[in-house]
Amino acid sequence: MKIILVIMFCAIFSSVSPDPDNMQDTCPTAPGEQSTFFINGYPCKNPTKINAQDFKSSKLTVAGDTDNYLQSNVTLLTALEFPGLNTLGLSVSRMDLERDGSVPFHSHPRSSELLFVVSGVVFAGFVDTNNKIFQTVLRKGDVFVFPKGLLHFCLSGGFERATALSFYNSQNPGVVNIGGVFGIDQDHIKNMMRSLATGSASLVTDGDEL
Ligand SMILES: *[C@@H]1O[C@H](CO)[C@@H](O)[C@H](O)[C@H]1NC(C)=O
Repeated sequence: MKIILVIMFCAIFSSVSPDPDNMQDTCPTAPGEQSTFFINGYPCKNPTKINAQDFKSSKLTVAGDTDNYLQSNVTLLTALEFPGLNTLGLSVSRMDLERDGSVPFHSHPRSSELLFVVSGVVFAGFVDTNNKIFQTVLRKGDVFVFPKGLLHFCLSGGFERATALSFYNSQNPGVVNIGGVFGIDQDHIKNMMRSLATGSASLVTDGDEL
């Protein structure tokens, strides 16, 4: 019985805390010097030099440059770009989609993602380990969750630009991009996502139409 309780406790504990817990209040990432030793995370800044600016970033105030093939841009702030995040198990990103923009299938091995639509319409979906697709239309103020490690994608679903913020429960969620690894043709991926969006009866949707 005791053993079962311990196992349950560990399972619950590990599932809510993907990054290790911090052992002090804060540990802003030290400015980059060439490291001669490697640890799980980043070394802390000298505590006497920590100030409020370490916990602020203005890097998401501007849209990323969407002048590229996918007509999209994701600006991710991890503990490397945003020192105050170090050891807190959090990171944040901004996604900008042009009218025909898309962010193709990818996954974050170390984190779930909570997406909040700031403006425009976003068509978002993920695939679970049974190869079942969960996809829906999101409008301003809507929130959607991409569970940890699962493949997911976003398309602009409206006639205007769309912007969304994402929050991750890891200071370094990591990105695995299927196109990048297997050299899959970008057009092919785009078509795949478009055909998902135009809908097939076998897909699990909430009935929303684009
Ligand atoms: C995203 O935007 C940033 C900042 O404007 C830019 O440096 C970067 O090249 C853009 N990425 C892509 C894939 O276009």
